[in-house]
Amino acid sequence: MLILGIESSCDETAASVVKDGRTIVSSVISTQIEEHKKYGGVVPEIASRRHCENILGVVKKALSDADVTLEEIDAIAVTYAPGLIGALLVGVNFAKGLAMASGKPLIPVHHIAGHIATNYLTFPDLEPPYLCLVASGGHSHIIEVLSYTKFRVVGRTRDDAAGECFDKCARAMGFPYPGGVHIDKASQNGDPSEFKLPRPAVAGNEFDFSFSGLKTSVINLIHNSQQKGVELNYNNLASSVQTTISEVLTEKTIKAGKALGYRKIALAGGVSANTGVRATLAQACKDNGFEFYMPEKSLCGDNASMIACQGYYNYLAGITADESLNAVATLSMEDI
Ligand code: KG4
Ligand code: ZN
Repeated sequence: MLILGIESSCDETAASVVKDGRTIVSSVISTQIEEHKKYGGVVPEIASRRHCENILGVVKKALSDADVTLEEIDAIAVTYAPGLIGALLVGVNFAKGLAMASGKPLIPVHHIAGHIATNYLTFPDLEPPYLCLVASGGHSHIIEVLSYTKFRVVGRTRDDAAGECFDKCARAMGFPYPGGVHIDKASQNGDPSEFKLPRPAVAGNEFDFSFSGLKTSVINLIHNSQQKGVELNYNNLASSVQTTISEVLTEKTIKAGKALGYRKIALAGGVSANTGVRATLAQACKDNGFEFYMPEKSLCGDNASMIACQGYYNYLAGITADESLNAVATLSMEDI
């Protein structure tokens, strides 16, 4: 079965053809990062306009790279939530038009479910149930993947997402948007022991996260040193930020895995590309007897293969939509 996936929730316009949910036949990603860099973050209005300009070419290329025609596609999957509303609408309306014109089924996909599905593309034998840590620019979730289409959120961030914390700390250090990858690079030459950063305890749910205190403390540290004319070692600071985030994410995920009795733990989302997060969680899983899964690096960021993959499992579960499908900016995994 061939699924065409379409993704436009943030600043990547992407399309991909995936076979039987597990094999990527083609994948095209048109990124707008260079344009948003000038503003230090994604400008929603610009993102929508670029998606409108790019989507037809990106979908055509995904089909031609896969060497298939639209007629040979079995169904069209699209990200409908969550994300920037104007950006999501471009993909949703394009997919609706394509589905109506071709008579193909339309499959709605939740973006976070798509990130989780990158593990099915990397590990063809992985099956639910398992516990997944999803860390991206907009989300930090610990999720029970009960089946391919049923999820339960057991922990979430109370304020900033892990990716947002990476990006804001990076911005304060003068790195361009998106800064996560620059913190990752700088920390390769850093020593995490110079700066002790806060690891907030969260009252209530022990599996929830809070990263705003860490972000504020890094920003204050930088401002204070600038006022005093003292130069900080940014490699060491980056290394502390990365180590702290990696350890906090790992500690709570392992605790949740034990408390809920899982054998398998997976990682997903843009932050899953981070060297520290990958290594720390991998080691902790090994030490605590969990099987560990993480997407190959090329699948960590936003792409449409993950949407086509999750679309396949949604389709098998009978999750399809008609022309009334709308984009939704905020939607919990549990409400899909
Ligand atoms: O999943 P994603 O591509 O978009 C959202 O759905 O939000 O995640 C983007 C986030 C950004 O915050 C970016 O800085 C972060 O993932 N990221 C990283 C790395 N690569 C991407 N953070 C830390 N280290 C990296 N190597
Ligand atoms: Zn994403």
